Amino acid sequence: MNIKRFNASLIVLTTTIAFAVTSLVSADDGYERYRNHPHFAPLPAMPPIPAHNSMTPEKIELGKMLFFEPRISASGVISCATCHNPALGFTDRIPRAVGHEGQVGERNTPTVLNAGFLGAQFWDGRAADLEEQALGPIEAPVEMAMDISAAIDRLNSFSEYRERFADAFPDESAPVNPDNVALAIAAFERTLNTPNSPFDRYLQGDLNALSEQQKRGMAAFVDNGCQACHRGAILTDSSHHRFELPGSTDEGRYLVTGDPADRFAFKTPTLRNVALTYPYFNNGSVDALEDAIQLMAQQMLYRDLDADMIADISAFLHSLTGEMPQFTVPALP
Ligand code: HEC
Ligand code: HEC
Repeated sequence: MNIKRFNASLIVLTTTIAFAVTSLVSADDGYERYRNHPHFAPLPAMPPIPAHNSMTPEKIELGKMLFFEPRISASGVISCATCHNPALGFTDRIPRAVGHEGQVGERNTPTVLNAGFLGAQFWDGRAADLEEQALGPIEAPVEMAMDISAAIDRLNSFSEYRERFADAFPDESAPVNPDNVALAIAAFERTLNTPNSPFDRYLQGDLNALSEQQKRGMAAFVDNGCQACHRGAILTDSSHHRFELPGSTDEGRYLVTGDPADRFAFKTPTLRNVALTYPYFNNGSVDALEDAIQLMAQQMLYRDLDADMIADISAFLHSLTGEMPQFTVPALP
């Protein structure tokens, strides 16, 4: 090829590339104000890991076994996975949890997906983190109803558990203990994250990851003020707000603090995977996402939304369903 022709085609080529790059960068769908909203952020692949609970493969595997282990319940048939069922979005899809001897608890089971990102655990925020949360359900009379020392005795009766605790917590003389049960379960839970939802891909620059309706819903979510409370990567402020559900007598955060200002206040739940985690609210009394959106608008924002806007917001909330964690169900001893 003669040099001149080569140079000419090189120039054409570079201009084409430069044009393609600029149009990629400057391309917009008219929603950039929303896409760049400071209250929105893509979900990181992993939540923060506390310094005292490193995530070793041995500890995660043990925590997974304990999450599925029904023999640390009094009946021997209820595990964490009974209510936080992986096939049901790590919740149970019933209004209020059913635990030991069929007792119905007061509250709806939240998902444990992305729970490592939460600033507080439970509807009333009574546990600060996953480590503090983990032993609660084993001992709760309406959940697994098991005395924790009896649970430890049961685990100690299996040589496989004795070995696995020793591997996960090397250098400890009595590794099968309640603290280590909590540490292992928490380490496993921190692997249950759902990144790469359509909304995350959209925030990261794939403008086609959301449909037009989902983009309208995102705008309505912001313009109506939903992000005042549902914000950040997991769309919660980890704070408590008063919300009175028809027919509910649950006083929420007040039961923890005794402060009258906290009466009927509940923690803002994550909206990640909310399309999978019906029924909604602290007592699971609302089945349809559309009805949940309208109740929120009425009680939190003092307005009624029309049916089209509700459908748009619902479509947007469906874009928050991410990739489910992949793991093999453990074989227990
Ligand atoms: C009988 C059903 C049941 C069982 C068994 C159960 N949970 Fe739960 N879980 C619930 C309910 C109901 C709540 C909400 C309770 C509340 O807020 O007062 C909850 C809350 C949680 C939360 C807080 C999530 C959030 O969004 O605040 C985590 C984490 C959790 N459970 C993990 C576990 C682990 C780990 C186990 C096993 C050791 C377990 N659960 C066993 C029903 C259950
Ligand atoms: C003032 C804070 C606040 C605002 C504003 C707000 N929410 Fe909420 N949201 C909450 C709290 C708190 C709850 C939990 C209420 C309960 O169950 O007691 C909640 C629950 C929800 C739920 C149910 C989630 C579940 O898992 O049960 C959905 C869906 C929801 N909000 C969507 C919205 C939408 C859409 C908007 C805007 C129209 C909105 N929220 C505005 C605080 C807020």
